[in-house]
Amino acid sequence: MKKILKVLKVLSICVLASVSIYGKTLYVGTNAEFAPFEYLENGKITGFDMELVEEIGKIINMDVKIENMSFDGLLPALQMKKVDIVIAGMTANEDRKKFVGFSDPYYTAKQVLLVKEGSNIGSLEELKGKKVGAVLGFTGDLMISKIKEINVERVSSSVGAIMGLKNEKLEAFILDLAPAENFAKNNKGLKIVSLDIEDEEYAIATRKDEIKLLEKINSALKEIKQNGTYEKLLSKYF
Ligand code: ARG
Repeated sequence: MKKILKVLKVLSICVLASVSIYGKTLYVGTNAEFAPFEYLENGKITGFDMELVEEIGKIINMDVKIENMSFDGLLPALQMKKVDIVIAGMTANEDRKKFVGFSDPYYTAKQVLLVKEGSNIGSLEELKGKKVGAVLGFTGDLMISKIKEINVERVSSSVGAIMGLKNEKLEAFILDLAPAENFAKNNKGLKIVSLDIEDEEYAIATRKDEIKLLEKINSALKEIKQNGTYEKLLSKYF
């Protein structure tokens, strides 16, 4: 009897150990409409963030499973434990920091405007009285929504705003620089206007109480930066 108990004890310890904090799968939320960070290519989600999180998974010894959803659904999904972390070119801003934990930053970004080539809009100030597109819940949306005089037109995805620019329903569209550059490259007749505003930092979000997971992610990020993987990914996607 004693022996059986002992075996059972050892077995249960083994099971507990192999489950680690989350079991072997790390569920990762993203919104794959943000090239080059995350986008669909031949039906597969790919991009800088996706490769970065795969590398993190390897280092912390977990299988990464990507869940694609709307951007404004990401943090609620994290809170409701539908996913364990979020990586989505997400800016670690003060508001979000109240609700979730953020890893060390992994990318510095900036908001810019996309406008039609002939446009003479050159600053945030000049958006007053204009119809300006923003994707619901993106930091660009939060930023221009603070300026009362701007007529903010919220869209559910960037593609809608690009169409709005082309058929002149919108006079500008505010977006993060790298995806904006992507759109400018792939859509003739659009140009980028840089803004005199602060940089933003992208980071990986976890639930607030998951300190251990956050620490693991941070040390994995460090390793990825030190072993050259980070540079490799940068030159592949930018
Ligand atoms: N950086 C911006 C933000 O945090 C936009 C991120 C959009 N990311 C995405 N995967 N759609 O709000």
